[in-house]
Amino acid sequence: MNVNKIILGDCERVLEKFPDNSIDLIFTSPPYADQRKRTYGGIKPGEYVDWFLPKTEQFLRVLKPTGTFILNIKERVVNGERHTYVIQLILEMRKQGWLWTEEFIWHKKNSYPGKWPNRFRDAWERLLQFNKQRKFNMYQEAVMIPVGDWAQDRLANLSETDRIRDESKVESGFGKNISNWVGRDKVYPDNVIHMATECSNRNHSAAFPIDLPTWFIKLFTVEGDMVLDPFVGSGTTAVAAKQLGRDYVGIDINDEYCRVAKERVLQIQPGLFDQAKYSHVARERVAQSQPHLMERAANYTPEDLE
Ligand SMILES: C[S@@+](CC[C@H](N)C(=O)[O-])C[C@H]1O[C@@H](n2cnc3c(N)ncnc32)[C@H](O)[C@@H]1O
Repeated sequence: MNVNKIILGDCERVLEKFPDNSIDLIFTSPPYADQRKRTYGGIKPGEYVDWFLPKTEQFLRVLKPTGTFILNIKERVVNGERHTYVIQLILEMRKQGWLWTEEFIWHKKNSYPGKWPNRFRDAWERLLQFNKQRKFNMYQEAVMIPVGDWAQDRLANLSETDRIRDESKVESGFGKNISNWVGRDKVYPDNVIHMATECSNRNHSAAFPIDLPTWFIKLFTVEGDMVLDPFVGSGTTAVAAKQLGRDYVGIDINDEYCRVAKERVLQIQPGLFDQAKYSHVARERVAQSQPHLMERAANYTPEDLE
């Protein structure tokens, strides 16, 4: 398998040569239906699912059972209504064997203001999470956020209900015990990610901000894991993976984008394993499966970081 490479080609064909169960995270933003025809060929909305399914079949084959597939996508408006190809795609992928585990929302903090007769500006995109099985690798501590100002007041005055597990009134299964959070300075984030779009377009008309793949790579992989972006464009996912010390493979059908991606990853110094960033669970897993990484982490000196 080609490790730490940007490969020119159709991802479906290229992945046919990859071994089964070899990828820890697939993170990608495919060409959107019928958009950007002039830059990399549009796929008609009505044909999108048939175009995409043979590719997701390969993704399913190459992903490890413990791995995750994150698909950044948003349905476009056709004839005045949102097209249903994303919904159809989810249903078909479930038939293929995928679990549709979660949906994250990317709230684009800086979306352009505008006026349309029948809708408001579009300020979010989907990040659909698919898995092969219910138990998959997830390192939640790696994306914890500061607890925020609300905590001081809220946690200072706990009610009786706050001290026991309060089951959701709407039976969502998301019960909570507020008192668990007293004295903590970090909390887990929710499934809405607030990030600005990238203003400089990195020679690609549809590049996403590097913080987006970075967040998901931290959440679903540890150092030494393999990250794949089958529609890598200007290489953003590969850059994020390399920065975090993960291995990567990027594929794009356009040779100019491949050239840009290669240039970008070349400029990156690979990250070093930072023990503090990961949970003890993640570290234990690395220690068992890849002990050499722990040795490297224990031994590195400040000079290594330069
Ligand atoms: C939305 S863009 C990805 C942008 C990327 N996330 C970035 O940050 O630059 C989709 C990319 O898919 C590529 N593409 C289209 N069809 C492809 C295929 N069959 N195999 C591989 N790449 C393909 C296009 O050339 C385009 O660069």
